[in-house]
Amino acid sequence: MNDAAQPLLIANWKANLAPGEEVALAAQIATLGATRRLSPGSLMIAPSMVGLVAVASLLRREHDALKLGIAAQDCSSDLAGAATGEIPASHLLGAADAVILGHSERRARGESGSLIGAKLARCVAAGIRPILCLGDADPKATESERCALVVRQWREVLAGAATLGCDVATVLGSGVTIAYEPVWAIGSGQAASPDVAAAVARALRSETSSSSLRILYGGSVDGKSAAGFLSPTGEGSLNGLLIGGASLQAERLLEIATAVGVAS
Ligand code: PGA
Repeated sequence: MNDAAQPLLIANWKANLAPGEEVALAAQIATLGATRRLSPGSLMIAPSMVGLVAVASLLRREHDALKLGIAAQDCSSDLAGAATGEIPASHLLGAADAVILGHSERRARGESGSLIGAKLARCVAAGIRPILCLGDADPKATESERCALVVRQWREVLAGAATLGCDVATVLGSGVTIAYEPVWAIGSGQAASPDVAAAVARALRSETSSSSLRILYGGSVDGKSAAGFLSPTGEGSLNGLLIGGASLQAERLLEIATAVGVAS
């Protein structure tokens, strides 16, 4: 949905807003985005599961030119069938373009790498793009410790996907996007340094032997810090940002879009 050279911003609204508020904020973002010439395909919105369909239909009906993407914040590891309360990846198809998987706020609720891998395999099989979150939890860890931990998380997720017959080549071929989100940076107001994010990006690209792997940074990004994350080049480059708190106000979100060059 967005071309490879253009940064991708993902607005993760978490459980902050009621569905009606989500529709109202989506409309505000789209209206402001049009005024600020937001580049088509550069922004994806991740509303709650309850608001997702209403937000998606509003954006497609009234603001289609902006090509705003929609991501779910999670999905089930189950296939469609007797699984009360679950939302299979295949049921999101048509409403969502992507699914955020393995966010640290879900890992904190007991999700293992293996379960996240199974969810990832379901997304890949359904043809829906996985946005896989990985991140270290210790603010005092060294750069090499962070890289090692994130690579280990990636391997755990791959092992989980393999249990459902989804191998690494299939995962990489699915358009998987990784979001490096240090847990200590999320919601703290203290973003990681762009150098750390670049080191993690290099480690992941080396591990996967994929220089084209798409990697985002997330954790307390705002209009001031955003551009710094997109400055590194080569194997340490980042392809966009996953934004929580600052995505809950249209102005703050568009400020980030302007800082990274996808809006005026
Ligand atoms: P934050 O959240 O920008 O509020 O730190 C990011 C995220 O959790 O995805």
